[in-house]
Amino acid sequence: MNQEARQRAWRLLEESVVTYRGQPVGTVAAHDPETEALNYDQVFTRDFAISAFAFLLDGRPEIVRHFLTTAVRLQSHERQLDCFKPGEGLIPASFKVTDNGEGEELFADFGEHAIARVAPVDSGFWWLLTLQAYVHVTEDRAFLHQASVQQAIRLLLDLSMTSRFDMFPTMLVPDGSFMIDRRMGVYGYPIDIQAQFFAALCAASDLLDADEPANARYRAALDERLPHLAHHVRTYYWLDLERLNQIYRYGVEEYGPAAVNKFNIYPEAIPDWLMDWLPETGGYLLGNVGPGRLDYRYFGQGNLLACAAGLATEAQTTALMQLIAQRYDDLIGQMPLKLCFPALEGQDWRLLTGCDPKNRPWSYHNGGNWPVLLWLLALVGLRTGADELVERAMSDAERRLLQDDWPEYYDGRRGRLVGQQARRHQTWSAAGYLVACQLLERPERIELLHLGRSVEGASCAAPV
Ligand code: GLC
Repeated sequence: MNQEARQRAWRLLEESVVTYRGQPVGTVAAHDPETEALNYDQVFTRDFAISAFAFLLDGRPEIVRHFLTTAVRLQSHERQLDCFKPGEGLIPASFKVTDNGEGEELFADFGEHAIARVAPVDSGFWWLLTLQAYVHVTEDRAFLHQASVQQAIRLLLDLSMTSRFDMFPTMLVPDGSFMIDRRMGVYGYPIDIQAQFFAALCAASDLLDADEPANARYRAALDERLPHLAHHVRTYYWLDLERLNQIYRYGVEEYGPAAVNKFNIYPEAIPDWLMDWLPETGGYLLGNVGPGRLDYRYFGQGNLLACAAGLATEAQTTALMQLIAQRYDDLIGQMPLKLCFPALEGQDWRLLTGCDPKNRPWSYHNGGNWPVLLWLLALVGLRTGADELVERAMSDAERRLLQDDWPEYYDGRRGRLVGQQARRHQTWSAAGYLVACQLLERPERIELLHLGRSVEGASCAAPV
């Protein structure tokens, strides 16, 4: 490991800390004096989760506890029929500390100020994963059992588990509702959200106090939901050569419970690139599964998080790592890790992004490479014995990150160019790298983060 890179990353993380009334409460997303801040001067819930892991593994839990409490204070608490107010239970995408001369105040953004007004569906999930890691590292049960913390968990479950218009165990979301927070054709049932949903539900079932009567029906609902969710994703999202052969020969327009092609997928929709790209061994979880729709794109965060959390089976996890090893240039490249492969191009780009120049092919969310994902690569790689692959990815990354001043993302098929609009001094690029270093140094720390758990998939899921 490159000591200089590590020291620089820690310094960057320290410099990003935000305080509120004398206490550290989070880290800003980026601190790049050369670029307009927009909302990068705010504490993003999803970005801070990675900083939190780094602080926790370094034995510094205070900032994480203050962050968790601040987020509970900001969580939306009123049942809403007013469409301009955040739904009850929502955790803000980001917040900042303001001061108009009369003392510091917190200002939360639930997406109503963000570019394109996107809903932060993942914030609550990241809050739960942060809380879970905090509790496992510190064993601070007194904090966990506070009435406000237990209620915050229940509110999140009400918000995310209530049945609405669809009847799948997965979660239906609008476009851009997570790390990909721009229009990218990731509405419906994107894998990133399903992996986070699963990991967060596991966290909730671990964190809800068993002695609290108000928690009983939530615990029962979680026990019921988790196996169905696992079964659904493991069965319908998984793609390898065998499954591609099945899809290729699917019958269509099948009605009723005996249908094999449950989502009425047309084989003609299989994209040309996939036929030769998918290796003999190896596989991945598809980007999205819904009525008449399989999104064949590979999404790095969703796939690795599904493996980290135990949503993917062990065999699937091994197969994913085989795929990443065999398609190293495409999925890792010069700067780990490709967020989404392949990029949307031509008419697909026009229609699905609305001609978004920031997301033009092989840039940003649309095929860019994101160093923040290093922590997930390290976690899953080390667990599956792919140490060499992780070390190779890390040594390429640290050299460039140091030289380029910790950019937010890289562009190009192999991630060789600093992202065209990337901030430098991007906090989670440093934090993702640091967590990867911490795990490489002592792999037993993986268990401290305590992501997910082993869930047997329901052998016979509810009607899908
Ligand atoms: C961008 C990214 C988002 C991130 C935020 C702050 O909006 O798309 O994932 O949370 O910047 O870094």
